[in-house]
Amino acid sequence: MSLKAWIVTGAFIGGLAVPVLAAAGQDAVLAQYKTQAIAADPAFAGFSAKRGAELYKSSNSAGGPDTPSCSSCHTASPLKAGMTRAGKAIEPMAVSASPSRFTDIAKTEKWFGRNCKTVLGRACSAQEKGDFITYLSGL
Ligand code: HEC
Repeated sequence: MSLKAWIVTGAFIGGLAVPVLAAAGQDAVLAQYKTQAIAADPAFAGFSAKRGAELYKSSNSAGGPDTPSCSSCHTASPLKAGMTRAGKAIEPMAVSASPSRFTDIAKTEKWFGRNCKTVLGRACSAQEKGDFITYLSGL
């Protein structure tokens, strides 16, 4: 194989490696929420992208008055960059646009903890977290 062919092959494999690894990371995070969801409800019947979309778009009154919805900061389209109340950009939430989303359980948990409280005035359940990730992984 010529040097050029090696470089092209290397770039191709390099391009493929990132989404494959990211998918493995999301599966591991989802598996943790699945275990927790079953512990909370033995009749757990799987995560739902539809319920995740409803959570993302829902308008709530129990949280902060400026933040009725996840879309308040993450915008109506998870494929687009969002913005904090201080004007700082937030990478898109859709995994297709931001492959590293939901691959680091510590980061994911930190922000679910913070943002569910801000928007819903309570913690999200494991079922809600899994639904949310399932929705954003399928866009
Ligand atoms: C006040 C603004 C704001 C609102 C409202 C908000 N978020 Fe976020 N969210 C952020 C910021 C800032 C980050 C961290 C920056 C980043 O990850 O790009 C973030 C990150 C996240 C992450 C981490 C994702 C990962 O990479 O693992 C999750 C999960 C999340 N938000 C869930 C939610 C949910 C669920 C709601 C609605 C119940 C919500 N957010 C509403 C600002 C917000």
